[in-house]
Amino acid sequence: MRIVMFAAGIVAAVLCLPAFAQGPLAKPSRAAAQKPPAEVNQARQEQAKIYQTRGEEVPATYVTDRALLSYGSTLLPDFIGTLAELGPADRWLDIGAGQGRAILEYYGERFDAMHPEGRERRGSKAQSVALSIEDRRTADWHNTAAALEPGKISYLHGRRLREYTPAELGRFQLASDVYGGFSYTSDLSLFMMRILDLLETGGSFYTLLINVQPETAAGRSAKSTAAFQTEILAADGTPVKICSWLRQIGCAEVSCDTDPRSETPIERYRVRKTCDKVSVPALLPVHFAPGTPPARQFRLAAPAAP
Ligand SMILES: C[S@@+](CC[C@H](N)C(=O)[O-])C[C@H]1O[C@@H](n2cnc3c(N)ncnc32)[C@H](O)[C@@H]1O
Repeated sequence: MRIVMFAAGIVAAVLCLPAFAQGPLAKPSRAAAQKPPAEVNQARQEQAKIYQTRGEEVPATYVTDRALLSYGSTLLPDFIGTLAELGPADRWLDIGAGQGRAILEYYGERFDAMHPEGRERRGSKAQSVALSIEDRRTADWHNTAAALEPGKISYLHGRRLREYTPAELGRFQLASDVYGGFSYTSDLSLFMMRILDLLETGGSFYTLLINVQPETAAGRSAKSTAAFQTEILAADGTPVKICSWLRQIGCAEVSCDTDPRSETPIERYRVRKTCDKVSVPALLPVHFAPGTPPARQFRLAAPAAP
């Protein structure tokens, strides 16, 4: 089946925020509750077809089996060191884990051989949770889960990140997302709120985006706005860099850099939670075209009137 990577522009609206059972949640900087138009639901259904593909039908560009080495070379360089420092009392969440290969490799002897420092402190290693909309577990996953101590790794599927309560997932010292929900969600600000809700203070989220206007770019790029895979516009229509938006998050320390080895601009991010009163500037989805990853455009919501 051929997946249509870019569809016509779709006007979206703010999605209703789910109510959570318990736990203090990061507050959106603007309360918004509006039903998404039919076009958005249609785009989501097209996107959902990609998650349901199996075997030969999986688009070549929908990669679900990246190795831990690939995570290490794709995310900001200190990701692997941060992972290597986790101990048995810590927890790692991989959002959009695909087959969960990176998690499996973390428990392999090769990881310890490559990172001998801190090996004793690591002991039996952190608990890991893989999150994926669709179940892409392999025999390797089931064999490794059976060989490790019960509950050491878990694989949650059937829902998007935003559909879990904080109580269901618990708190994490480390979260990663390699072409997962951060690249695929139609509601980027809600996604960031959920991530920060799940991080312990001092914990970090590592992720990346392909084909965005990097922090280092001067002014408006020569590229047409439609050429960016993910783009944010201010209320007056001027482009806002992803990194600048992340830096506006309250209680977060943000690092951004562009992978110098990549021909396609890839910007890598680390968001460290520094306190509990997180606030994420709300983004309204204005365009969402299914793909691997989808093309998305958001608009910064105007600040609420005092
Ligand atoms: C292209 S695969 C990447 C898999 C893996 N990270 C890798 O690099 O091999 C995308 C993954 O993100 C998941 N995903 C997309 N949106 C998500 C969301 N909002 N919440 C949780 N998982 C999501 C998909 O279900 C899938 O597991």
